[in-house]
Amino acid sequence: MTVNAQPQLRADNIDEVLKAMTLEEKAQMLIGGGNDSFVGSGAMLGHQKKLVAGAAGLTVAIPRLGIPATVVADGPAGVHIDATREGDPNSYAATGFPIGTCLASTWNTDLVRAVGESIGNETLEYGCDVILGPGLNLHRNPLCGRNFEYFSEDPLLTGKMAAAVTQGIQSQGVGVSGKHFAVNSQETDRTKVDERLSQRALRELYLRGFEILVREADPWTLMSSYNIINGTYAQGNKDMLSTILRDEWGFRGIVMTDWIGKRAKLPTEQEVQAGNDLMMPGYPDQAKDIVEAVKAGRLDIADVDRNVRRMLEYIVRTPRFRGYKFSNKPDLKAHAAITRQSSTEGMVLLKNNGVLPIRDLKTVALFGVNSYDFMSGGLGSGCVNVPYVVDMVTGLKNIGVSTTPQLTEIYQNYVKYAKAKLKADKNPMMWFLDQGQPKLDEIDITERCIAHEIGGADAAIITIGRQAGEGMDRQIEGEFCLTTQEKAMISRVSNAFRQQGKPVIVILNSGSVMETASWRDLADAILCAWQPGMEGGNAVADVLTGKANPSGKLTMTWPVSATDHPSTRNFPQEIDMYTFRNLQNWGTPIPGSDFTNHDEDIYVGYRYFDTFDREVAYPFGYGLSYTTFAYSKPQVKAAGDQVTVSVTVKNTGNVSGKEVAQVYVRAPKGKIEKPAHELKAFAKTRELKPGESQTLTMQIPLRHLASFDEAQSQWLAEAGTYSFGIGASSRDIRCNASLKLKEYTEKVNNVMAPQVKLNLLKQ
Ligand code: BGC
Repeated sequence: MTVNAQPQLRADNIDEVLKAMTLEEKAQMLIGGGNDSFVGSGAMLGHQKKLVAGAAGLTVAIPRLGIPATVVADGPAGVHIDATREGDPNSYAATGFPIGTCLASTWNTDLVRAVGESIGNETLEYGCDVILGPGLNLHRNPLCGRNFEYFSEDPLLTGKMAAAVTQGIQSQGVGVSGKHFAVNSQETDRTKVDERLSQRALRELYLRGFEILVREADPWTLMSSYNIINGTYAQGNKDMLSTILRDEWGFRGIVMTDWIGKRAKLPTEQEVQAGNDLMMPGYPDQAKDIVEAVKAGRLDIADVDRNVRRMLEYIVRTPRFRGYKFSNKPDLKAHAAITRQSSTEGMVLLKNNGVLPIRDLKTVALFGVNSYDFMSGGLGSGCVNVPYVVDMVTGLKNIGVSTTPQLTEIYQNYVKYAKAKLKADKNPMMWFLDQGQPKLDEIDITERCIAHEIGGADAAIITIGRQAGEGMDRQIEGEFCLTTQEKAMISRVSNAFRQQGKPVIVILNSGSVMETASWRDLADAILCAWQPGMEGGNAVADVLTGKANPSGKLTMTWPVSATDHPSTRNFPQEIDMYTFRNLQNWGTPIPGSDFTNHDEDIYVGYRYFDTFDREVAYPFGYGLSYTTFAYSKPQVKAAGDQVTVSVTVKNTGNVSGKEVAQVYVRAPKGKIEKPAHELKAFAKTRELKPGESQTLTMQIPLRHLASFDEAQSQWLAEAGTYSFGIGASSRDIRCNASLKLKEYTEKVNNVMAPQVKLNLLKQ
């Protein structure tokens, strides 16, 4: 027996360990283990080398009490760690899975759960304890630079996808960090901007996805966002991090901050009090602040103990604590297969005038630099260091389709040159370029060059790429819209090929929504392939040939113009690279962008376009198939606290395929203004053979029919007749049923009200 034995952490002695900790140790537990290359020019955010090189951060070890350090890595499209290590010949490349928007576009929660299992397995086998994802901020506006990491403009779809991927990841014995909690739907000035919005929009739209995630999937951790919400930093917001998250929703995990140091205008003790358990990446000053605040009586030790207890509860769940022997050898082959399958299901066929699926195709003229430098994912912390990316040349070759040799050579040489140049020119301030595959400039393809290609090709395929990422929002010109050069390329190729009766197919290799209305007539088919992960070229080929029948559906509205979204009016614009560099100081406010008023209120995405009857390029929920489906008359019943909707979907075409049935509910007129309709349930069929049918049964909790009634601080679904429209998009309702319902109410806390008067959009 040792004298003075220190308790060693176990799942059943947390109180004893807590008692044995000094105040300094407790403070240390609430601060991450640092980020060894965070400070200084050229530093990469979220990058440490101690336990798993390239993981974003660590929690602190206290060996005398048997508390190990744990490792957290980005997220969300796969495990973001360094692919190589100094003096080590092994590869640590991780699978690049489809970006969040592509996964959500599958509308297939079983598939997304399976993707989560693979991501979780790689997290485990590469020695990490938590993956920093899913990202589930709302697509408030198409210009947000990080939309690719997020799922949708709709909170139900967002929450269901986040829950499914989380269930998959956590089934492997590792945790997630749902991020960024909350209202982080813009990148510009993200560490300072005050997001001002009504309690209704906050509750119904921006928090709802997180609520579903917490209630349905018990995430181990959430990440509080950098921004301010209605005057209070998310990181120091007790109303959000404790009252709503824990008291109302029953969250049991830990909250960690997004990666930032001590905040200039937010006292460290306020973060502790608010229930922000862990400050990442962690700076010694923050631990000092905690100790001093306790000693000075500004911070109650009970608050510290509560957060430390949660940290210990988290630690005992981790593979590091269990002593799991990770292999560093996940089954990349198996994961590549699931990536390919999930990305084919997430691709959305926007247009097809009958040219797809392509038959008897032998040779293609392949235009656009991204045909040859296909983008697997986006930029910033959300990128993955992948072993390879299958480009379009390889994807087509793998199905026996060749590309015209001269054009292929021109582009391939150009890609080599442009990549070498980018490396040589590297601006040390542009750290984010190290984190992902930057978009290369297009080259000018002349009419003469196109004329040369036609003879040898059966069709033209043009890939248009768009890159976006952390720290910057997108511009309308040249990013949301095509560049002049791209427009010229599409129109020249289209003229030349269509004149000879040869089809022109456009592939969008973009993480986000693009402008299509002005040029779509020039293409025979348009496939939105997103950034579909490292098997991109293979997956596109699967869809083009019909090996996979497309069944992806848009998870956000594609507007005619970016300014059609009411939120564009107060979405920051014209933030150039110079301004971006200022952001590196994490403190310089950008003039005019220190607040964002959500004047559009609840009218985000289709809630706006369908209510105000505005034209769109492609509606929410839209996506074509190579077959057709018929919907039966639906059955709608209420029992207990839910409504059950069932509908039979039949494949009425000639090839097998899957369909997504989407339930849009129209509420009765009452005292609360309601959008024209809202997505309240969805389900995807299995692969149905021609003539085959499947009955889909979906549940809608009554509380999901409710709106947030600010006057009473309650959820309220008014009594009356509700109509349940089921269809293939928000603008393609195929059948209806209605049901009389009694009033439903649920009281909640009156918190997080805006501090300024907003000029809210009304019907
Ligand atoms: C991002 C997070 C990320 C973290 C760690 C932050 O800048 O906003 O999404 O998880 O860095 O890399």
